[in-house]
Amino acid sequence: MCGIVGYLGEQEAFPLLIKGLKRLEYRGYDSAGIAILDDDGSLEHHRRKGKVDDLLEHMNGHKPSGGLGIGHTRWATHGPPNDVNAHPHLSGDGQLALIHNGIIENYHSLKETLTGRGHTFYSDTDTEVLVHLIEEILKNSEDLDLFEATRIALNEVVGAYAIAVVDVGRPHELVLARKSSPLVIGIGEGEFFIASDATPIIEYTKNVVYLEDEEVARVSLTAGLKIRTIKNHKVTPVITELEMAMESIEKGGYEHFMLKEIHEQPRSIADCLRGRLRLGHGSIRMAGIDDHQEMWSQAQRLIIVACGTSWHAGLIAEYMFEDFARIPVEVEYASEFRYRNPVIGEGDILIAISQSGETADTLAAIRMAKEKGAHVFGICNVVGSSISRESHSGAYTHAGPEIGVASTKAFTAQLAVLALVAIRVGRLRGKLDEQRFNRLLVELSGIPEKVQALMALEPEIEQIAEQFMKAPNALFLGRGYNFPVALEGALKLKEISYIHAEGYPAAEMKHGPIALIDENMPVFFVATQDAHYDKVVSNIQEVKARGGRVVAIVTAGDTEASALADKVIEIHRSDDAFVPLLSTIPFQLLSYHIAVKLGRNVDQPRNLAKSVTVE
Ligand code: AGP
Ligand code: GLU
Repeated sequence: MCGIVGYLGEQEAFPLLIKGLKRLEYRGYDSAGIAILDDDGSLEHHRRKGKVDDLLEHMNGHKPSGGLGIGHTRWATHGPPNDVNAHPHLSGDGQLALIHNGIIENYHSLKETLTGRGHTFYSDTDTEVLVHLIEEILKNSEDLDLFEATRIALNEVVGAYAIAVVDVGRPHELVLARKSSPLVIGIGEGEFFIASDATPIIEYTKNVVYLEDEEVARVSLTAGLKIRTIKNHKVTPVITELEMAMESIEKGGYEHFMLKEIHEQPRSIADCLRGRLRLGHGSIRMAGIDDHQEMWSQAQRLIIVACGTSWHAGLIAEYMFEDFARIPVEVEYASEFRYRNPVIGEGDILIAISQSGETADTLAAIRMAKEKGAHVFGICNVVGSSISRESHSGAYTHAGPEIGVASTKAFTAQLAVLALVAIRVGRLRGKLDEQRFNRLLVELSGIPEKVQALMALEPEIEQIAEQFMKAPNALFLGRGYNFPVALEGALKLKEISYIHAEGYPAAEMKHGPIALIDENMPVFFVATQDAHYDKVVSNIQEVKARGGRVVAIVTAGDTEASALADKVIEIHRSDDAFVPLLSTIPFQLLSYHIAVKLGRNVDQPRNLAKSVTVE
């Protein structure tokens, strides 16, 4: 995933582009670049390996003038991160500049054809073929404008793209298009803002248009906004009013977005439940379920597809659906599911979980499931994202923008939505009696308050981080609902601190991993009082007997596990199904503080991007 920004209007484009790129930098930061057009027909083009600050340093204080510009932060897919591969890419005649998010799958053949027609390529990227292809089409026809040439070019392209392209000869218009990668148009007063998502736009205008797949658009100071499909069918723009507040994309006084988002969880979980969990009525209202009650009542099987942290949420949902709704569930890595030729069809419900709503593997999985006749229910955090718009039904997590690359509040919001769905469906299918249904609603409604109380643990968790920050490896263990919490804890630690960590079902230790235990291997247990507690206590004893150091997350008031562990973190009691919403918090804080103490780039860890829109 990368960041795309563009501006057309009376203001100086340069400062707006830079500010916008900085807001999008979390999406990928291998290189940054801008192209600015001035009324006199001049085009300035600057790009640099590294972050936006590296680009600014390279420009040495120079501020190009002009009211039309495009900017890009790259997450490389074809060609290493360097200056030459940085976007924007120019046409051979230097008249066109183009930026791109996605992958052009047939770029090899396009490149060969264009090279055969005399085009010279300077980069290793797939992107560069796009700008040369548009140039070639413009060159071979007198009466085509940039919009038409781009539309025609995209009919020859296979792959994913969000692009913006400008023409020196047309300094008052900007052409853009999308397929599988997101692109948003902000409609201002006599000005237009383009971006990969709404965060750089919200401070200027709340009126946006989400481009749909295979749509090409032109914004013009004289002719306004025009949209066509790449097959040249007219599209009427639908303006959406953004509800995102400015402060939601600032750090709010926290050192990192990740810490802010950890602390936002009481509110984000409450926002997720708001309007859906109706305690007074003793009911759950979710349009995505209410409008398809028969389908949910009759479904024979659920397939959950996701990646990374969202896949961990899917594992917890498996326990919930089987517990509350007695419905068989499979949880699949989207990347495996999509290539496996799975058995799926009418009567199956596929739940796709994705914070960004743009993860390529998950998007491909739902497209395949739809083709095979399954109903796709999407759970996304980004409104208007591809997965949310391509699902038959769904529910937003409403966690607000999650800027930190390591997912935290989106994860707990996913668990809250999944709990609502599982309880609602369990009731619908007659598997949850009224008493248990109401008891679950009451308990779930109290989770935000319990999560808020856990924030008081931060100082003691920071001390634990101090003691374990030098460990070269770590194990995370849990059983039942807390097994996926162990997986998630391990992922959090490794992705932001770069310490190798593994999560396991606690019972699995004796099948090999226990050989790893010695005084250098810290073991983090989730040992809350549930049906597995006694067995987990035995597992702690096994680890202690081999010299392992143990940190245990326990239920408040615990004595047995607490007596064995080297360090204890107490969390509130709750229904087994909701404990993950609580037990994951200490692991988020632990990983965050270890990473900070190690001097890691917590919000933008090396090699990672916030949303992986490539396969
Ligand atoms: C989680 O901390 C990671 N950033 C990553 O595993 C992420 O969960 C995964 O890439 C899936 O992203 P999505 O939820 O946006 O689809
Ligand atoms: N595939 C293009 C490249 O590697 C775009 C990658 C991106 O989305 O940033 O340059």
